[in-house]
This record gives sequence, structure tokens and C-alpha cells, in this order.
Amino acid sequence: MKRSQFIKSSCTACAMFALPGIATMLLDSCVSLPSAKVEPDYTTKTCLVPLSKFQESKLVLLRIKNFEFDFLVIKKSESAFKTLELRCTHEAQPLTMSNKNIYCASHGSIFDFEGNSLKEPANLPLKSLKTEINSTHLIIHLP
Ligand code: FES
Repeated sequence: MKRSQFIKSSCTACAMFALPGIATMLLDSCVSLPSAKVEPDYTTKTCLVPLSKFQESKLVLLRIKNFEFDFLVIKKSESAFKTLELRCTHEAQPLTMSNKNIYCASHGSIFDFEGNSLKEPANLPLKSLKTEINSTHLIIHLP
């Protein structure tokens, strides 16, 4: 799925969830996150994200050039970060953020910010990338 299709489907999903009855569950859905676009370093199999990206938010949407799916980087503390691939473990569809969780508009799976599946049909956790920091950057180890 191309990025434009993903954005369109995500907005369509948000519109669907805004319907009465379903709105209660996802009233605070479709958050707008700060994002970072980075180039992968294929020599070291890493990408770098400036720590300054986390000044405004503990959640940053990461787009790595040539990667099909986006990633969610979560600042858990000053020295601990988690990077989750926003690819549903049910049928590999892109995931969408809400204030409370990560959900799949395709069949309704829900994941927490640790990547654990909270609602099937997806029953496997999201892929997590090894993530560490130096004095200025987050270092994300690519698969
Ligand atoms: S692809 Fe996500 S729940 Fe089916």
C-alpha cells in the first residue's frame, strides 16, 4: 500500500469510527504526531533520529526511506525508547494511532504501546526494533 493510499484509508477509517456507537471507543482517536523522515545507513544497518524530535512529544512517527511501513518511536524515559513497526501482525496492513492505543482499521485489532495485541484477530505482538541513544541521537537498528 502506498503512503497516499494509507493516509486516505486512515482518514476513511477515522470517519467510520466517528459514527455514533463506535465513537465512544475511539473518541480520542487519530492523533497527529510529530514525525521524522530519515535515511537508512545500510553500512551500519541503522538510522539516526535527533533526540530533539522528542521535546514536544513522547511519541514520534518515523518514516524511514525505502521502508514500506512507518514506525512509532516511544520515549519511555530519558534513556529508554521503544520502536514499533506500524504493520499489523494479522495481515500486514498499516496501523493507525489513537491517544490510547494503536489500531488496525482493516479488521479491528488493537495493540498497546508495548506492541502487545489487545484485541484479535491479530494475536502476535508488533515487531520491535532495537533502539539505543547517544548524546544527540536515537540509534535504531534496522532489520
Ligand atoms: S490486518 Fe489488521 S486486523 Fe487484519
